[in-house]
Amino acid sequence: MADSITEFKLPLSGKLALITGASRGIGEGIAFELARRGASVILAYSSPDSTPKIESLIQKIQSLPHKPTAYPVRADLTSPTGPQDIISSLVAWSESQNQKKLQLDILINNAGLQLVKPVGNITADNYHKIYNLNVLAPLLLTQAALPHLNPAGHNRIINIGSVAARGGFKDLSLYCSSKAALEGLTRCWAAELGGDGTTVNCVNPGPVQSEMLDGIPREIVEMQRKNTPVEQRIGTVGEVSKIVAGLAGEDGGWVSGQVISASGGWAMY
Ligand SMILES: NC(=O)c1ccc[n+]([C@@H]2O[C@H](COP(=O)([O-])OP(=O)(O)OC[C@H]3O[C@@H](n4cnc5c(N)ncnc54)[C@H](OP(=O)(O)O)[C@@H]3O)[C@@H](O)[C@H]2O)c1
Repeated sequence: MADSITEFKLPLSGKLALITGASRGIGEGIAFELARRGASVILAYSSPDSTPKIESLIQKIQSLPHKPTAYPVRADLTSPTGPQDIISSLVAWSESQNQKKLQLDILINNAGLQLVKPVGNITADNYHKIYNLNVLAPLLLTQAALPHLNPAGHNRIINIGSVAARGGFKDLSLYCSSKAALEGLTRCWAAELGGDGTTVNCVNPGPVQSEMLDGIPREIVEMQRKNTPVEQRIGTVGEVSKIVAGLAGEDGGWVSGQVISASGGWAMY
């Protein structure tokens, strides 16, 4: 048997992963799960208030027995230069580490924003705010990361969408449609980038307790919970993170251009 027990326990050993929105909620869970499986993780976030949360996540990650590397990077992904700023600062960081060139293996486009507003009240500014973070930022960050992906291929790009992409939820049209756009980007990037074994997928969580969920109307969450085939409950950050981490490893190599519903089977249609 070729694989050693250590390799089995740390399937992402030697991989470098960039996770956006890593300061809390699903992004924090994904970052920890990738690190738990052996990856070095770059934790991207935006708000200065979240710095203590990032510091405590770094401490938690570095307390793991295999002591993974965790490095923070702060940038507003809704600013046109934010995505490139992240990559430029990582290039400098990487060079400071034994003059190594930045070589990313895993990119998780997770940061996202929702807005509850009836269609009649939506403004162009609302549109730009939601679409800049949920759609344009994954595009610009993926573009900026492309020259720095591992040239050996078999890289992983995972976009975090939402079951809302296929749900007609009242007052959530900007959020739902932006996540539908992310599904479209995922399928096209999978077609463009697959030549070297790179996969691109979209993981669509159902409701998961987080600051974002606190802002979603309770009746929508309750409707989803009641109609969730698995145990009629909402999901956990850990459940979503494990699905993402599975796709990020070698076992995810033959899945690309797909939308994976991480929702206990909940589906609008
Ligand atoms: N929770 C759910 O039920 C659920 C369900 C389906 C899909 N999702 C999706 O899962 C992803 C994570 O959701 P969550 O519930 O974990 O959200 P959350 O708790 O609200 O966390 C959002 C994250 O995005 C970051 N972020 C916000 N604005 C940003 C900006 N302008 N630039 C860079 N980063 C920014 C935040 O960083 P700061 O701390 O620095 O602000 C934070 O780390 C989102 O894409 C969301 O749409 C969530």
